[in-house]
Amino acid sequence: MNNPFIKQLSIPYQRGAHAPFSLEAKMALKVCLKHSFDQSSPIIIFIVFCFFSCLGIANEQPQPGKTKTQAAIASAHPLATEAGYRILKEGGNAFDAAVAVAASLAVVEPYSSGLGGGGFFLLHRARDRHEVMLDARETAPHNIKEDDYLDELGRARLGATREGGTAVGIPGLAAGLVELSQKFGRLSLKETLRPAIKLAREGFLVDNRYAKMAQFSQAHLKKNTHTAAIFWAEGQASKPGWRLKQPQLALTLERLANQGFNGFYTGFVAQALINTVNQNGGHWQASDLENYKVIARIPLHIQFHGARITTAPLPSAGGIALSQALHLLEPFSLKGAKDEISAHLIIEALRRAFRDRSQLGDPDQQPPPPVQALLETSYLKGLGESISAEKATPSHELAALPVSKNDAYNTTHFSIIDSAGNRVGATMSINFTFGSGLVAQDTGILLNNEIDDFTLRPEFANGYQLKGGLANAPLPGRRPLSSMTPTFVDDSRGVLILGAPGGSRIVSMVLLAIIEHLAHPEVNLLNVVSMPRYHHQFSPDKVEVEPTGFSPEWLAALRAKAHDIKTNSRQWGNMQMVFKAHSDGTAQAQSDPRGQDMGWY
Ligand code: DON
Repeated sequence: MNNPFIKQLSIPYQRGAHAPFSLEAKMALKVCLKHSFDQSSPIIIFIVFCFFSCLGIANEQPQPGKTKTQAAIASAHPLATEAGYRILKEGGNAFDAAVAVAASLAVVEPYSSGLGGGGFFLLHRARDRHEVMLDARETAPHNIKEDDYLDELGRARLGATREGGTAVGIPGLAAGLVELSQKFGRLSLKETLRPAIKLAREGFLVDNRYAKMAQFSQAHLKKNTHTAAIFWAEGQASKPGWRLKQPQLALTLERLANQGFNGFYTGFVAQALINTVNQNGGHWQASDLENYKVIARIPLHIQFHGARITTAPLPSAGGIALSQALHLLEPFSLKGAKDEISAHLIIEALRRAFRDRSQLGDPDQQPPPPVQALLETSYLKGLGESISAEKATPSHELAALPVSKNDAYNTTHFSIIDSAGNRVGATMSINFTFGSGLVAQDTGILLNNEIDDFTLRPEFANGYQLKGGLANAPLPGRRPLSSMTPTFVDDSRGVLILGAPGGSRIVSMVLLAIIEHLAHPEVNLLNVVSMPRYHHQFSPDKVEVEPTGFSPEWLAALRAKAHDIKTNSRQWGNMQMVFKAHSDGTAQAQSDPRGQDMGWY
């Protein structure tokens, strides 16, 4: 019986002698902790203190008022956050903790990210203030074929970018973790991957969020034998309280810990990836994996209302849209993101920034996409002058940029700052919920469907209703454009690290959070992360708003300015942020309340 789903009560609980808390008890604690350890709250500190005391690692948690330099971690899952704190306690820095958190998320949030996917790691090293973004984005295989994605009439075959081997990009996360560990960490991969290996081998209890995602993806999870062997049992996807064990993933993580890059991109694991992708219609070869490279990219920097914003460069289109929107908003004094006058201006800035996305693609192509031109002050000044304070500009009235003619859902973000001030903002993805739904043979690796982030034809939108240009066409070795936008905000009060999942809406989420954070003299992460969200992306020409949090007057004020408002049936996002104050070095973490249960993604 290789089915790792075993009902909670049918197996005795076993753990090391020094750990008297059962996973079940820890789950109850997690609900209190709302996925993060907010070190500014005495109640939560107390719970955290008791909890880590029981695990023998209590000293790691600085006590409020006593310790001035502190660390903070916010991730989408308490077990991943716990893994990160454990590594800090063992002497690791923020980069080591990031390896532990990312690998643990791959185990406990398999619908969001994982070794079969990729991500961006925005880093700041305190010692020399070195800043870089490690680009561990998935890459198109050398033999990618246009015919796989277009039918005889040149229409998109959408299934081909979302399911089966043709949907899968060469994964980058494993190489990203190796690079992060070797170039920035203090501990070995064997040490930093240990918590994830244990979680995969011993299992974890399925929570409501997992159960919801699995329920939504049922068809996906039972279709492929290797996927069903892990994620399907007793005629269903899962339910809260089941224990999910992933022993094969534990072995894969061990190979990575012991052999580094080669443990994943050559040999047994590489062969399993190739076999699975090619048996399902893809065209991978060994060299696609052997030649995978993590690329160190220079982050984008923008000054906005006295703060220094550091964000993701290409192949994230998100950082560029964020930078453009902030430039466009710089002349205005905004009363936070909720105020309706500000909201109109923010929507108009987003509309314009998303229009320009059609110019963007992998930065390593020739000629490279015109990033500098899009961020040029004179260009943005002209674009800003087209914003009317009185009225929405219909998207079709904005001059279309030339698009070159010749030529349900998931992801996760975490933020870490350590006591020395090293920072990590990481957003990782396998694209849709449970990615392509393919598990690579006996490796436990769930494969992404990131090929859907490419643009097949300028007239076809992708899964996030994003259109693009041929700079983002699926060509050999290219990385698809992304909206993932890990970001740092430095101002006179301290540093904020933030990011979120949510496809194209990531950009508006991060923009609203920055504006809200900067608009209020008091730092209040909970207010920022839980504020109601709205979004515009040029096309479709609608302002999407969350179902709660907007008064009839607010909506009427925007409608009076000719905005077409569509109220979404669900909230969105699962933002994770940490803040460290300059004044006394104290750090705090805050997770999005939507991530607990309500959030769709
Ligand atoms: O890279 C991107 O933009 C997408 N693959 C991200 C997908 C995502 O955020 C899904 N969200 N929940």
